[in-house]
Amino acid sequence: MHQLGHTSVRMGEEIFSSASAKTGTFPCSARAIAFTSGKGGVGKSNIAAATAILLAGYGKRVLLVDGDLGLANIDVLFGLRPRLTLQHVVQDGRTLDDVLIEGPGGIFVLPAGSGLQDLATLGQARLDELLAAFRALDSRMDYILFDTPAGISLTVTAFLDLSDRLVLITMPAPPALTDAYALIKVLWKRGRRGGISVLVNQADEAEGRAMFRGLSWVSEQFLDQQLDYLGYLPRDPLVAEAVRRQQPVALAYPDAPLVSALRTIARTWINEQAPPASGGIEALARDAVATTTTSDRRAS
Ligand SMILES: Nc1ncnc2c1ncn2[C@@H]1O[C@H](COP(=O)(O)OP(=O)(O)OP(=O)(O)O)[C@@H](O)[C@H]1O
Ligand SMILES: [Mg+2]
Repeated sequence: MHQLGHTSVRMGEEIFSSASAKTGTFPCSARAIAFTSGKGGVGKSNIAAATAILLAGYGKRVLLVDGDLGLANIDVLFGLRPRLTLQHVVQDGRTLDDVLIEGPGGIFVLPAGSGLQDLATLGQARLDELLAAFRALDSRMDYILFDTPAGISLTVTAFLDLSDRLVLITMPAPPALTDAYALIKVLWKRGRRGGISVLVNQADEAEGRAMFRGLSWVSEQFLDQQLDYLGYLPRDPLVAEAVRRQQPVALAYPDAPLVSALRTIARTWINEQAPPASGGIEALARDAVATTTTSDRRAS
């Protein structure tokens, strides 16, 4: 059991060569997915971590980025004690490759370190450099998952902007709807159109649907922003048990209800033919094609 949390610290290039050898595939563009929420403590870190491990279980090269530079959630969840963290990238000029470690379940982890408040301390030039370094990882991974802190800070928006898809996690309570809508509004103001998937955690089917209906109604009504429904995740006491044991829930309890629900989502993502809607150039091209096709269909 103890070795579940164990990790070896190796140089990134070495890790990547073993990743490519594992899949034997030609490097292709990664799908970048950010797990985000309006309110804190809704399950982002647990969900991002479990999803990363499940995707890796399907043979995908997965990088989990701990975007919470203040609290270092992933270290704690996995019981990792990394020698170097994103903090060393930001403060000491280390590269992302220096900091990458092999995590549990065959995933790669970029640990955050604690105590760094925001990427705002970096200044624009270094921030651009850091974001470029993330983009450079793109060809060497199938999935890059960002676990972000709640709300909107410069760190969060930087990671969200890098992501093709945002998984907006919320819970079935009226204040959570307000918080989630506030985040959707900020994203809309930043130019995000589409690519937002809502996941309702600690809910049953009816609660999940009701939450999504409420959220998508206000978003469409006031912002003309369409949301996708990713589903609901059940309340699952094994999540807290895994957290207490500092073991990834997806490995410690592979049949836990939350893990089974996330496995369905991971499988859907893997089976998707087209990449998810994104904020990037490719997405603009895709959207243009989609719009033309739709209007063609309407016209005919
Ligand atoms: N489906 C679930 N069933 C039961 N407990 C859950 C579930 N999802 C999350 N939790 C519990 O909720 C707590 C918060 O989870 P987590 O740390 O993943 O949230 P977070 O959104 O990342 O928080 P933060 O905003 O502080 O980063 C944890 O203690 C976890 O055990
Ligand atoms: Mg977290």
